[in-house]
Amino acid sequence: MNTAEMFSLTQKMEKSWDNEFQELVKALPKEDGWIGSHLYFYQGFWCPALVLKSFISFQKNFQAFASDVILATFPKCGTTWLKALAYITLYRSHFARDENPLLSSSPHQLVRFLEYDLYLNNPFPDLQNACAYEPRLFATHVPYASLPTSITDSNSKIVYICRNPLDMFISLWLFSTKLRENNLRPLSPDEAFDKFYHGIYAFGPFFEHVLGYWKASRENPNKILFLKYEDLMEDTNSHLKKLSMFLGVPFTEDEEKQGVVPEIVKMCSFENLKELEVNKKGLHASGIPNADFFRKGEVGDWSNHLTPSMVERLEKLIQEKLNNSGLTFKLSSKTSRIFHPSE
Ligand code: A3P
Repeated sequence: MNTAEMFSLTQKMEKSWDNEFQELVKALPKEDGWIGSHLYFYQGFWCPALVLKSFISFQKNFQAFASDVILATFPKCGTTWLKALAYITLYRSHFARDENPLLSSSPHQLVRFLEYDLYLNNPFPDLQNACAYEPRLFATHVPYASLPTSITDSNSKIVYICRNPLDMFISLWLFSTKLRENNLRPLSPDEAFDKFYHGIYAFGPFFEHVLGYWKASRENPNKILFLKYEDLMEDTNSHLKKLSMFLGVPFTEDEEKQGVVPEIVKMCSFENLKELEVNKKGLHASGIPNADFFRKGEVGDWSNHLTPSMVERLEKLIQEKLNNSGLTFKLSSKTSRIFHPSE
């Protein structure tokens, strides 16, 4: 499938909905998405037309095992990176160090999305064969409140990653610009900003998504590990160790002596993954080129794109949304500027 075929798949998806589903959808608020297809406001978030039906199947039919690990992320916040780190860490005992699966498969092939991949065309996918090893490892962008109850109510584990919203916005805007349907004119920075400001993008609004996982992780830290892209970037080694302990596969003393931690960090680094042949070609299950998941991989790139008034409006929005939540974001690695909602 190429990118043009992906759009036709999205359009076909909306046309293929049966009458019952059309009825459900008719009542939902609808907006133009960022790449050409529609977004539907369902269960408190903007769901892309492509995955609305698959999300509902996933929510209704997925049966979690207590041993499952779910990587839950907000789009453009480090999903690809987290998939690589979690896969290699969790399954490292299954392959030799020189036969690392990341050399031959993209992180998205190794850890498959539930709504964007496995449930896309099948309400009852073969989940057992979707994972090479035990425990099962899956990914999703679905907000905490909309996860299947078998995930939230079981002992399965969730690792969540998010990122400061200014960088997330720039990442999303530039990603969408690349993927936007050829016959549509590109979204201007002001148009994109306006949509972003109002939370109208896949799985938005961002703050509700982030706060859903943040609150749940504070209530149940043994079930949900809450990570931030900026922290991971600042000290990947210690966060990888934290991840390994959370997943129940801590690095042994021997592994530490052999340098396994920095080896995995290097293997999963932006610079390394971006240059691997497997990530330069090929497409993700949703039709997106693998290469588009790797752009700049920096903290603070927003300062090269946003106007001072955009920054001011976003800072106010962060303040309003994160007030009293205890959640803060680093906006830049250079100045270590930390945004505290009470500033
Ligand atoms: P930028 O657009 O700011 O460069 P996702 O994987 O959730 O779609 O997020 C994509 C963002 O993560 C992009 O950010 C991309 O460059 C960055 N990224 C991808 N792989 C990475 C890695 N191994 N380390 C750090 N950042 C990475």
